[in-house]
Amino acid sequence: METQRLDKILASTGKHSRKEARVLIRAGRVLVDGVPVRDAAAKFDAEAAHITVDGADIGYRRVTWVMLNKPAGYLSATEDRHTPTVLDLLPPELRHLFPVGRLDKDTVGLLLLTDDGATAHALLSPRHHVGKVYEARVSGRLTAEDVEAFRAGVTLADGLRCLPAELEILSAGEAESVCRVTVREGKFHQVRRMLAERGKPVLFLERVKMGNLPLDRALSRGSFRFLTADEIKNLGVF
Ligand code: URA
Repeated sequence: METQRLDKILASTGKHSRKEARVLIRAGRVLVDGVPVRDAAAKFDAEAAHITVDGADIGYRRVTWVMLNKPAGYLSATEDRHTPTVLDLLPPELRHLFPVGRLDKDTVGLLLLTDDGATAHALLSPRHHVGKVYEARVSGRLTAEDVEAFRAGVTLADGLRCLPAELEILSAGEAESVCRVTVREGKFHQVRRMLAERGKPVLFLERVKMGNLPLDRALSRGSFRFLTADEIKNLGVF
């Protein structure tokens, strides 16, 4: 049985800062197994104890998963001396999370962050073939030959061969086209390099889905939400 301080347990839900948690506890608004506990340093097993704030279950979870709608200009890293990272978009009590894979600085959209290393690793492993879906606006007209080249597996400029991928053309014009690309691996700058290889450089790239989890369109760029218990459960289904 692992015990933690009550204020730490409350803060780990992401709903309160540690300071707010202490205020709630002192005010007698936090009950553990039905009994008010006014000592923030009192320790409990969060998975076993029933903890409520103002009568509502705190919904403690062993692991934390967050979906971020990543804006351009942020690195998918935990720290960088010069450029803001995606952790700068989270409150301090969630800055222990790490991004699940990477999006380029200028790629936007669905980025998961978690402290669940095992599931994150499984999601990214090429062995599980978890599809990552991107929408891209590119220069030039996409054609049926491009679709076929993606299906066969594009070879990049440095000789690296990509696994077969799906390219769906959403609109094709002389100057620009829009497409949806599904890849099942995560080579560096992969989607940009695959499209560049076909002579269609990417102008805008957004990740819209990871496995069976779509980007929540209610999230504005730069904002995040916690995954629901069902979403977390489904993440592990490959
Ligand atoms: N492929 C890219 O080229 N960039 C990303 O950010 C993700 C996939």
